[in-house]
Amino acid sequence: MNKLDSSLITSALLESGFELTDHVTDADVVLINTCSVREHAEARVFSHLGHLKHIRKSNPALVVGVIGCMAQRLGSELLAHDAVDIVAGPSQIPQIPSLIAEVLSQRCPRLAVTARIRDRLADDQSQQLDQFEHAYDSDENNIPGQAFIRAMRGCNNFCTYCIVPYVRGPEVSRPPRMIVEQAKRLAGRGVRQITLLGQTINAYRHTDGDRRYTLADLLEMVSSVDGIEWVRFITSHPGRFDESILRVMAELPGVCPYLHIPAQSGSDRILAAMNRGYTAGGYMRLIDRARQIVPGIAIAGDFIVGFPGETEQDFEETVELVREARYKNCFVFKYSPRPGTRADADEKLADTIPQDVKKRRNTELLAVQDAISEQDNRRFMGRTLRVLVEGLSKKPHLNRAENEDMPQLIGRTAGDYIVVFNGPESLAGRFADVQVTKTAALTLFATLATNDNHQSETVR
Ligand code: 5AD
Ligand code: SF4
Repeated sequence: MNKLDSSLITSALLESGFELTDHVTDADVVLINTCSVREHAEARVFSHLGHLKHIRKSNPALVVGVIGCMAQRLGSELLAHDAVDIVAGPSQIPQIPSLIAEVLSQRCPRLAVTARIRDRLADDQSQQLDQFEHAYDSDENNIPGQAFIRAMRGCNNFCTYCIVPYVRGPEVSRPPRMIVEQAKRLAGRGVRQITLLGQTINAYRHTDGDRRYTLADLLEMVSSVDGIEWVRFITSHPGRFDESILRVMAELPGVCPYLHIPAQSGSDRILAAMNRGYTAGGYMRLIDRARQIVPGIAIAGDFIVGFPGETEQDFEETVELVREARYKNCFVFKYSPRPGTRADADEKLADTIPQDVKKRRNTELLAVQDAISEQDNRRFMGRTLRVLVEGLSKKPHLNRAENEDMPQLIGRTAGDYIVVFNGPESLAGRFADVQVTKTAALTLFATLATNDNHQSETVR
């Protein structure tokens, strides 16, 4: 979501005459787009601000804006910081170019956040956000050939640990017509993959007259746009997950066989305390069903370790769920109490698990997943897979592959598996068929395939 917001704002600022610079010391304006999900992310923003305060000593004209979730959460408290001129929340992104212009001309601070974040936005404000998304596309400065489109804003779930509902407001689904128009325009500019975004994207619902649209409908509509070859969506919530989504995935080759569906815990007691609305058994039944309907589907998960009251037994249940689910990969986070959340207000949910216990559980869970990924990825050995090429690989891998005179590239399969291979940089943003020569837990290594014997990765 933040990457999308950043690229929309970048497009808008480029259009109003700004240029990007790689060096903070050359900048007239610095914007920090912020995340509030964990305390660590917020601490890093304060450390950047400390640095900017220093830079302002030699460049007093520098304008600094803090935007996004942390801006919404802290508001005037942030504006009081010596280094800050603009504070603007996620719902105020369309105003950012004019806020910057005001600060440049009047040299006075500007605060733009939503006063009552859980209220539905006023219609004109909501339309302004929609228009902004519609006018600016997300492909600027992103990976070539790929773009994000927001399908939904906000969240109504109130998981007890989570700040999102308090910084991004209530759930709103964007009209499918706008999303499809954006997809068409992006396709015309060479975009081949669209990622639809929403905090709980499987809850997408839009009513137009007597026609009701669901995520399955939206996937069908976007995947049939000329030029769009792959459509994916993140993130799903395991509660009320409709099988129609899995059916379009199975039937339409353009809908990627990939599901990011956080479980957060494998303990029913912890899931209830988190207010997740499902049990570990219910979650596993959904995963089994997904695998029945979409054979070979790649599933990714998120987990929080060290949630208040998590015992060794609870944690063992999480380990057991990870063993059973056989994810492609999972993201593990140490519980971080967030001011204003339900857990934070509830004495029974005080943050009591020591940091070293959280750390150990984090490492242990990742090690279990790593062994599974390492084992499961071996099945790709020797197979030819289609990837969408992202560009040069950032980390040089020790891969003794063919075409060593060409640079090392990185691409992703429809199931989101990362593949590293040598090839011409001109492939960035295009599809390529590659043959897997080596596998590891997080990466597949391959060579560019010469013949056209590409197999669908969904067939095991
Ligand atoms: N502490 C730790 N992790 C969190 N997440 C959300 N809130 C918190 C928190 N307070 C994790 C969840 C979510 C991911 C985006 O971040 O696992 O799926
Ligand atoms: Fe946060 Fe839960 Fe909403 Fe996800 S579903 S954004 S974890 S409140």
